[in-house]
Amino acid sequence: MKTIQSATYPVHFNDKAYSKLSNFIATQNYSSVFVLVDDNTMDCCYPRFMQNFVCNLPLEVIQIDAGEVFKNIETCVGVWNAMTELGADRKSLLITLGGGVITDLGGFVAATFKRGIDFINIPTTLLSMVDASVGGKTGIDLGVLKNQIGVFANPEMVLIDPEYLHTLSAREIRSGTAEIIKYGLTHDINLFNKIKDNNNLNIVDLIHRSIEIKNEVVLKDPKEKNLRKVLNFGHTIGHGIESYFLENPEKENLTHGEAITIGMVCESFISSKLLGFSAEKVEEIKHTVLSIYGKIEILPDDFEPIISLLKHDKKNVGGNVNFVLLKDYEDFQLNCEASTDTIVKSLNYYLT
Ligand code: GLY
Repeated sequence: MKTIQSATYPVHFNDKAYSKLSNFIATQNYSSVFVLVDDNTMDCCYPRFMQNFVCNLPLEVIQIDAGEVFKNIETCVGVWNAMTELGADRKSLLITLGGGVITDLGGFVAATFKRGIDFINIPTTLLSMVDASVGGKTGIDLGVLKNQIGVFANPEMVLIDPEYLHTLSAREIRSGTAEIIKYGLTHDINLFNKIKDNNNLNIVDLIHRSIEIKNEVVLKDPKEKNLRKVLNFGHTIGHGIESYFLENPEKENLTHGEAITIGMVCESFISSKLLGFSAEKVEEIKHTVLSIYGKIEILPDDFEPIISLLKHDKKNVGGNVNFVLLKDYEDFQLNCEASTDTIVKSLNYYLT
């Protein structure tokens, strides 16, 4: 599988990626290596990583609790303290081994520790392989508000080892599939069709194509001045729903992918109202999403607090809710605004 070159770092695939990693470290002047894991990846992924990783430097493992609720500043303080106690210096390397929480939080910890040390991402979930580990966004949540604190910082390398996917539940795989659907709708409808038809699904090919698309976008607009906003298709409403479910313990526990598929259905509906996106295509998207993810229960009483959370979205400027909408498959428009009434209609559309 061909290496993808981003601005300053390569994304290597499969087993050969480990020799690239070991060779890279051998050519650098690192003093020590720290591996950041969570409870799950310590058990399920770290043994495979150590079987494949060749390195003569001192190596320490730092383990954090697994879960989005730990993607916060307290966890960062714990990791910074652990690194300090274990003697990390400015020539230490941090390897993040985990899902989006580990790669986002680990990147942020590295980018801020002693004003910045190198880090390498080894995503172990489909979601982090196709999204979080690539593109230089690092960060943590602020309360229930997702990714509110962070910096842009590129890893030195990203290593994609699809073997780690065997450690995931079907639900976690579906969560990552949502981001692949997003790339399909905005950039390459073949990706969407393959998932819709459940046909000829080669997961490594889907990951490779998804990263290629993300990389093309990020190379053109690394700091999300404009074009990169397209990667947030489905995420404006999706993040509102995700945050709302996270802060209400009586609500079921939603994955990121489940939330953003609802967002993609709603934002496709809004696209049809505001930009004339085909109603048949909106139906096709809704049907595909419901067939894979089922219908998540959202009550009419939930609408108002969800919409109020949308207003905290980082893409908003001046209090208006900012959307990426579809004019057609593979054709989008950035910086669209929708009224509260249209957003409510889109939630009702999802539910009917
Ligand atoms: N997850 C969206 C981005 O990286 O821009």
